[in-house]
Amino acid sequence: MPLPKAELHLHIEGTLEPELAFALAARNGVELPYADTEELRKAYQFSDLQSFLDLYYELMAVLRTEQDFEELADAYLERAAAQGVRHAEIFFDPQAHIARGVGIGTVIQGLARALDRSEERHGVSTQLIMCFLRDQSSESAMETLEAAKPYLNRIVGVGLDSAEVGHPPVKFREVYEAAAALGLRRVAHAGEEGPPAYIWEALDVLGVERVDHGLRAMEDPELVERLVRERVPLTLCPLSNVRLRAVDVLEQHPLARMLAAGLLCTVNSDDPAYFGGYVGDNFHAVRDALGLELEQMRTLARNSFEAAFLEHDEERRGRYLAEVEAYEFGAG
Ligand code: ADE
Ligand code: ZN
Repeated sequence: MPLPKAELHLHIEGTLEPELAFALAARNGVELPYADTEELRKAYQFSDLQSFLDLYYELMAVLRTEQDFEELADAYLERAAAQGVRHAEIFFDPQAHIARGVGIGTVIQGLARALDRSEERHGVSTQLIMCFLRDQSSESAMETLEAAKPYLNRIVGVGLDSAEVGHPPVKFREVYEAAAALGLRRVAHAGEEGPPAYIWEALDVLGVERVDHGLRAMEDPELVERLVRERVPLTLCPLSNVRLRAVDVLEQHPLARMLAAGLLCTVNSDDPAYFGGYVGDNFHAVRDALGLELEQMRTLARNSFEAAFLEHDEERRGRYLAEVEAYEFGAG
């Protein structure tokens, strides 16, 4: 039995495995510029975030109907459950679909069909976080929030993703204020490729409660001190960082130093179909590469539930945390 954990940094579009991409392409009459899954997999060589995003957005062309989004989410939840995920807070990128003529209702209702069955079918509780694409305008983000209003009961919060450098958090001040006024929780990618200043801005200007990645926080001791003091969770994605060349090799990943500094770190998979592993694979990889102790693995699992947006159901959080404390290492 794998260690129970929550996954808090997962782009549902990044769980699109090549086999499903080709199956959906055939069903929807979409032509992909790759002969087969093998040729597609060969394209998974990234030099940075943008080189990945180009392929990530290209493959989304196959996602067209509610059923497509339902199958995508169901496939993720099945894999996640097999790796010990008990709770998942799932990002989606509505602007990338709206731009292709796929409405936000199709996306949310399709995902919801899988999410509504997830506890019963996979034993995984779920929430959705709607992300704004930071390389698009703030007006577009505001229009997207407006379009999401009929579905707000399905969304726990908002996030900020896509190409980071040159698109500082401050660009989205108004839309985050509007989201907060609607009662939505706030997170943002910051410090993946961008500087520590973007993490400060995400905290001070956007009011984020968790920082997605936050990898570059360690460059700024004052920032680390604040993140520790305020117990701001960081959703790290180690295999993603290697594949997108944010760190050269996993052995050099700052996770162990971040834990030692007292940061509330979590480990997540980001876009597992593209980065060579789901969340359990990320746990195993950091344990091997960084020589983490078993009790540090338990800390990572505990942190994931402490950082989850479960304030409306503390009883559930308590049950998950009790599972983590009772977990006996050895069986996998
Ligand atoms: N969208 C999907 N994955 C992402 C990542 N790792 N960083 C920024 N935007 C993303
Ligand atoms: Zn991400």
